[in-house]
Amino acid sequence: MITEQDCFYKIQGSTQNIEDYFTTYFDRLPWFEHESLWNLALIPPFLLLENPALAAINEKFKIEGAGFIKMDPGECYKWHVDYSRGVAINLLMNPGIQSVCMFEKENLNEERIKYIELDYQPHQFYLFNTQISHSVVTFKETRYMFTLQFEKPKEELNYYDVRNFLMDLTNPIKTV
Ligand SMILES: [Fe+2]
Repeated sequence: MITEQDCFYKIQGSTQNIEDYFTTYFDRLPWFEHESLWNLALIPPFLLLENPALAAINEKFKIEGAGFIKMDPGECYKWHVDYSRGVAINLLMNPGIQSVCMFEKENLNEERIKYIELDYQPHQFYLFNTQISHSVVTFKETRYMFTLQFEKPKEELNYYDVRNFLMDLTNPIKTV
C-alpha cells in the first residue's frame, strides 16, 4: 500500500532566496513552452547553490537545473508518472490559491481510486516522488511552482535514494 511517506517528504531548510527571486523578477520571468507540457521559466544556477538546503543536496546528487512552472486556471494535469525524472523537489510559490495535488494511493475498482493529497505548506520544500501516478488541478487562479531536475534520470536516481540521504542528514545518530 502506498503511504504519504512514499509520495512526498518535507525538506528542512529555508526557501527564502528562491522566494525573493520569484518576487523580485516576477514581471520579467522568461517563460517558454517546455516539451509542450510546461510554461517554464528557468532560474540561474547560482541561486540553487546560494540556498543551503539545495546546496547540501547538490553535493550528493547533482542538480541539473530548476525553474518555475506556471499552470493556468481551470486546468488539470492528467494522471501520469514523469517521463524522465525519478524524483523532484517542489516549492509552491503561491500556496494561498486553491489547487490540488494528488497521488494515486489505491485502486478501488475500474472507476474509483483512493488518493493522497500533497497539501503544500508555505515556505516548504518537498521531495516529490514523480514515479507514483499523480495529478494536479487548478481552479480560479494561476499556480506557480518551483521545481528542479537532477542530472541522473529515473533509472539512476529515485525518490528513496534522496529521501534516505535527507533522513540521515536530519537524524545523524544511528545505532550500529
Ligand atoms: Fe508530474
